[in-house]
Order: sequence, then C-alpha cells, then structure tokens
Amino acid sequence: MAKHKIAWLPGDGVGVEVLEAAKIVLDKVGLDADYEHGDIGWEFWMKEGDPLPERTVELLKRSDAAMFGAITSKPKKEAEAELAPELSEKGFSYRSPIVRMRQEFDLYTCLRPTKAYPGNPINLRDDVDIVVFRENTEDLYSGVEFHNVPEQLSSLLKSISKPFAKFANLKGEEYALSVKINTKKGCERIIRAAFDYAKEHGRKKVTIVHKANVVRATDGLFLETGLEVAKDYPGIEVDDANIDAMTMWLLKNPDRYDVLVAPNLYGDIVSDLCAQMVGGLGFGCSGNIGENLAVFEPTHGSAPKYSGQYKVNPLATILAAKMMLDWLGEDEKASKIEEAVKRVLVEGKTRTYDMGGSATTLDMANAVAEKM
Ligand code: IPM
Ligand code: MG
Repeated sequence: MAKHKIAWLPGDGVGVEVLEAAKIVLDKVGLDADYEHGDIGWEFWMKEGDPLPERTVELLKRSDAAMFGAITSKPKKEAEAELAPELSEKGFSYRSPIVRMRQEFDLYTCLRPTKAYPGNPINLRDDVDIVVFRENTEDLYSGVEFHNVPEQLSSLLKSISKPFAKFANLKGEEYALSVKINTKKGCERIIRAAFDYAKEHGRKKVTIVHKANVVRATDGLFLETGLEVAKDYPGIEVDDANIDAMTMWLLKNPDRYDVLVAPNLYGDIVSDLCAQMVGGLGFGCSGNIGENLAVFEPTHGSAPKYSGQYKVNPLATILAAKMMLDWLGEDEKASKIEEAVKRVLVEGKTRTYDMGGSATTLDMANAVAEKM
C-alpha cells in the first residue's frame, strides 16, 4: 500500500496532548505514513483573523486523511475582543474550523460509533453498540443566519408565510433567524451511507431520527427520503423516531438500537447522549468523511481547564485514529488498535481520572501501545 499522507492538526488546549498520545499508538502499530503539521485554532484566529488559515486548507487538499485534536472557540463578542489590535474592526468573524472543514471539503458523513467496551468502569450501560450517522454539511449548520434581519427578507416572508405574521412587526434587531436547509441530495447520501454501512457490517436495523411531526418541511424531507431509500435495502429493518422520544428510548433500551441516521443538529445531540452511555467524552470518537478526504477527531473540545496537565483520556482520539485506519483500508492495523484498547480496559490497571484512576494521557497511550 502506498505511503499515506496525513495532515496532523493538533489545534490547541488538550488537542495537542491527545494527538501526541494517538501518535504513540500509530507509530507502534507501524503505519507507513508521512505526517504534516497544520496550523489551526485559537492562536491563528488571534494572530491572523483566521483559525483555519489558507495554508492548512491547501495541506488538506493534498492529504489522504487528517487527525484533528481540538480547538477553543468562544462566543462572537469575546472572540472579537481577542483579535490582534491591528485586525480588530476589519470585519473578521469567527467560524468554527471543524464546521468549515466539513463544509468546504464536503465531508458529509459524520460517523460516530459508540460501543460499551467490557471493563470500562464508567459505562452507563454495558449493552450499547450503536453507530450514529450524522449529516455533516447542512441543516441548522448551513450558516444562513441573521441577527439584524434585513427588511427585504422580512417583507418577503410577510408576503409568503402566514405564520410569519406574528413576527412581521418586529424590527430587524428584535429577532434572529437561523435557516435550516436540508436538500434532497444531502438527505439521500447520508441515509444511503447509513444503510450501506449496515449492509456491509451485518447490522440489522437503521433508525431515522427526525421531528417531522412539527418541523414538517425539512425533517419531513429527511424522513420521506429515508423511507424511500430503505426500499433499496430489503434485508435491513427500518424504523424512525422523533428526536425527543429518541433520547428517552435510547437511555431506556439502548440494546434495541443499531444504526441511527439523523440530520446535522439532532445527530450532534444524539451522538453526545450515546457517548455518555459508554463513558463520556473520553470515549466519543468521530470521523468526518467525504469522497476524497476524511478528518478524524475526538468529539470533546479543547478543555482549557485541563490544558497542559496531560490528564484527559486519550482513548477517544486513539479510537478516532483506529477509524482513520479503517478509512485508509488498513483494516488489520485498525483492529490491532481496537484489540489493544479492549485489553487495557479489561485489565483495568491503567485508568485516567474520568475512570477514577490517576494515569496520565501518555500513560494510557503507552499502555495501549504495549498491548500491541
Ligand atoms: C461536534 C461539536 C461541534 C459541532 C462544535 C465544536 C462546532 O459539538 O463535533 O459534535 O457542533 O458539530
Ligand atoms: Mg457535538
């Protein structure tokens, strides 16, 4: 197999620490790859007004895959206050680099497997083995938002939408509008990705998550498309649930769920719930997958409170590296990593603080590496 080109994007905060841990494991498994560092994160927002500089976008264009750690992000006003003085009031606005990578590279599948590994002392439930497919480019993440709603838009809405009447007399700055955009193509490709995965991995059921009883246009399209796509997969059971009910059922009977597919925001929410059932942020791993590039990451943030302490659990990132190997076609190396993680958990000697232990981030990485 050709040498893989991997963009290495630690970001900031504990992102740097968990990527260092993942590298220990990738080196031990003997992945043949060139790693190239990419600048990303808060530092580049402050210094350059761009947390995802163009040079990093170029790096991603020539990479096969990327590992991403974490980055700090702050609300609009705070973000603007931290810009270098020469950049302030020049119209720079902060947008999450991970959301940008997903959209600019059309990484439409957000894949979030959540498995309760035996021996993990912080499993909320021991019977969870759920794979979440989250649409990753549209929905309420489309970025079409207005705080000061332009007059043109409000008068158009007034003329074409009855329910808008109760907002029509508000002034621009008196309300905000975030547009949820779901396309037929966007719905179809994520739902197909979920069914294809189910078929390839011997999974029995796909549950379509939505709120089509209220959010009729966009979620209606998602559900309708899902039921249509399901017809092409006669061997796989299809099921659907409203997002609110879904969170209750998931907590109550996680063993009844297999593959979930959801629009962007519901997928964001439901994947955190799933992660919490199997140990929380230290176990939530994620792949942002497109046709030509995929970016792998732990779902946790930069955890400024723990930054510099080498304290956080790197297993989410190590499992994300395992997912990267799956995507690169390195199946054998991928399963070596997962087996080693399982052995460390069953053995129970190395535990980070979230698991009630005192092992450091790198102790955990070394323990996994030793098992390989
Ligand atoms: C995630 C995170 C991101 C998201 C944030 C950091 C923008 O919560 O990957 O789930 O909302 O998608
Ligand atoms: Mg999230």
